[in-house]
Amino acid sequence: MSDYTQKMMNHFGGSGVMLCLSLARDLGVVDALMEAKEPLTSQEVADKLNLRERYVREILGSLAVGEVINVDDTSTKFHVPEDHKQTLVAVSIFSRLLPQLGMRYNNVKACAQQRNPGGIVYSENPETFDVLKEILVTIKKDMVDTDILPAIPNIAQRLESGIKVAEFGCATGVLVNTLASRFKNSTFLGSDVANEPLEEARANANSRGIQNITYSTDNIENISEKYNESFDWILTRDVIHDLTYPQQALNQIYQCLKPGGIFSMIDIGIEGGIAGNIADASSMFYYSGSTFLCIPESFRQPDAAALGATWGAPLAREMVAKAGFTIINESVSRTDKKEIHFVCQK
Ligand SMILES: C[S@@+](CC[C@H](N)C(=O)[O-])C[C@H]1O[C@@H](n2cnc3c(N)ncnc32)[C@H](O)[C@@H]1O
Repeated sequence: MSDYTQKMMNHFGGSGVMLCLSLARDLGVVDALMEAKEPLTSQEVADKLNLRERYVREILGSLAVGEVINVDDTSTKFHVPEDHKQTLVAVSIFSRLLPQLGMRYNNVKACAQQRNPGGIVYSENPETFDVLKEILVTIKKDMVDTDILPAIPNIAQRLESGIKVAEFGCATGVLVNTLASRFKNSTFLGSDVANEPLEEARANANSRGIQNITYSTDNIENISEKYNESFDWILTRDVIHDLTYPQQALNQIYQCLKPGGIFSMIDIGIEGGIAGNIADASSMFYYSGSTFLCIPESFRQPDAAALGATWGAPLAREMVAKAGFTIINESVSRTDKKEIHFVCQK
């Protein structure tokens, strides 16, 4: 078999294994294996979870031949080595995106035709918000402390004394709620064009007794009149590249900041374009995921920018500069080399 054939077969096999991993996670099989003190048989896993053994056996087979989990020489006892557990938790959350992409398949196929208008907004598949939330809550649970606050000079002290902060495109509000619960002297706005995830953000704030936050459904591309020079700090994470008119949004964010205010644009900042990322595993997913999620999200209008997650750090820098910002720092996420916190000052 040629190297090329082998590589293609690896991609093909791997995509099936990752879909099985999503299923295993949703059925509780991943947790059962992670919690087990001893290697388990398919029957033991099935009994514990009240599942049909035959399905469990096939799923475990897929995961074992794909080296996601380990199997003994008799092909009957399965386990997850201790030093694989952290990675397995993360990859099993990411694998949940694959059924989401599949659900959009026919729709994306239609949207790609010149003759058809439009795209697909996240609210059409509300489960997507759930996966995005789980990524923040589990994989990126420390990002406020590791990626966000340390990148901005004096921000923690300023938050302690009391400033005005907004997160646009906050979805279920994981980041903005975390900040609001921690910095009680500051006031926060959590905003998203979609109402559904904001309901969850509100419920979460209520259950945690967070009172220094309000929520609104704003289109970030058209906000400056409402919030002109209102905020000391504005954040967006994984939002700008998804927008229909991102340059307009960056201009509006600039207007909404007080003079000297900070804009934290946390976004995918791939360097090197397509040619510079050949065979890079995370780029493989960014291009594929972007086809099914980011490009359709942007195509709310036929003249959408449709930047996609792969828009690249050079274009990101160019666009924030065009809006009037100076980038005072760029910090790379601890969990993803391609996620950059661009700290921009008005
Ligand atoms: C990829 S999600 C990121 C959500 C969240 N910030 C996170 O880090 O998981 C993009 C978010 O931007 C929101 N969004 C898209 N277009 C928007 C617009 N024009 N104005 C405000 N929010 C928008 C979407 O509803 C969605 O919640």
